Parts: sequence; C-alpha cells; structure tokens
Amino acid sequence: MYEQRFDGRKFDELRKIEAEVGVVPNAKGSARFRIGNTEAIAAVYGPDEVKPRHFEKMDRAVLMVKYDMMPFSVPDRAKPGIDRRDMEIAEVLMNALNRAIMVEEFPQMMININVYVTQADAGTRCASLTAASMACADAGLPMRDLVASVAGGKIGDSVVLDLTKEEEDFEGGATDVPMAFLPSKGEILLLQLDGKVSKEDLKKVIELGKEGAQKIYEIEREALKRRFSNESKS
Ligand code: CDP
Repeated sequence: MYEQRFDGRKFDELRKIEAEVGVVPNAKGSARFRIGNTEAIAAVYGPDEVKPRHFEKMDRAVLMVKYDMMPFSVPDRAKPGIDRRDMEIAEVLMNALNRAIMVEEFPQMMININVYVTQADAGTRCASLTAASMACADAGLPMRDLVASVAGGKIGDSVVLDLTKEEEDFEGGATDVPMAFLPSKGEILLLQLDGKVSKEDLKKVIELGKEGAQKIYEIEREALKRRFSNESKS
C-alpha cells in the first residue's frame, strides 16, 4: 500500500518546475528544465552540413541526439562517458523529436541536440525531452508543437504522476511509464512501460500524464515568451 507520497504531494501533482530558455550563450538554442530534483540542460546546434556525409538524408534533416548524465548528477557518481542506457535514451529522444521538428524542411542537413542531466531523481528522459524541445524552439527550428513530457506510474495500488527515485524504488520497484505529448495536437510521442499494469490503470496513468503535460506545456510557453519579450526590449 502506498497511501501518502514521501514528499507530501497529491497523486496527480507534479514536482516544482523551473523552465528557462537561452541558458547556453554559445548554442543556437538552449534550455534548462527542472522538475523537483531532476534537471536537464539542452543545447541545439544547426541546421548544418551533415558530417559524416553518409548520414545524410535526401528528404529531411538528420537529428544527432546526445544524452549524458553528469558524474555528479546522482549520489553514487555516474560513470563518465556514454553507456548503453545513455544510447537508448538518446534514441528515444530522437524518435520523439523527429515527429515534433519539421525535419522535412531541412533536407541534407544535420541538427545536433545535446542534453546533459545535471541532477537526477527519476524522470530524466522526460525532463531531457522537454528541455530539448524548448531548446529547439529557442533555436528557431520550425516545429509542429512543443513536446511536453512526464512520467507516471503505479506504486502499490496507487496511480501516480511524476515519480521520484525513492518512489520508483518503493517495495522492490514501482511501475514507471515515461510519456511525451504534442499537447495542442493531442498526439502521444512517447510511451514506455517498465513494470506491470492493467489496461484500466494504464489508461488512468496516460490520463494523468496528459493533464501533467498540459501544465508543463504552459510553463514551457511562458519561458519562451519571457525569452522573446526580453529580447525585443534589448
Ligand atoms: O531517468 P529516467 O527515469 O528517465 O530513466 P531510468 O533509467 O529509469 O532511471 C531512473 C533513475 O535512476 C534516474 O533518474 C536516476 O535517478 C537513477 N539512476 C542512477 O542513480 N544512476 C544511474 N547510473 C542511472 C540512473
């Protein structure tokens, strides 16, 4: 049984969020997204010439996505360098971003998206995807919509939104469902499942995810508006 959340949140409540755009002066676009004690920074470069050339696609841009956790992002010190988990997450991010960015507008070009997790307390792929999407918008890339991403799941008998690491580890492991949406299109870009869940509960998790993503979406839009209203003043 999991009746009360460790941090006192309601089951459908997100952690505290901070979103900021334009945090890396040397990138074409960048963003920082923090949700509780999980934080990701994304930097976007391009569109540029494809290197190496054989990655080139005649009909669209190629997205090169990198995901990395800083060694100091977790209590045990993450091993520096890219491991299999980092590669899997980069692939997941790339697949989602390919459907959000209008890649068909940049044939034979390459867009580099680098995401660094500075602090990890579960949900890093979701925070990374949200940060990457804001960074792409900041870079001026044409997009079908911003991506808003959050995990949901099941702890004991309770369906919950936005799990912490402590919750993920509760009683030998919760069910974790990372999700991503294009909110204004009503499309799901990412749905992963780690653990067991009934069809009915999965529907409830997705519903919570959708509602959470809508809140994240508003925060992303506010961050982008702040950035562009500051720019027009300077
Ligand atoms: O981060 P996300 O939930 O997207 O992916 P995960 O592979 O399910 O990892 C869950 C959490 O485990 C991370 O957010 C970190 O808090 C933690 N983790 C860790 O402590 N050390 C690692 N090398 C990898 C993950």
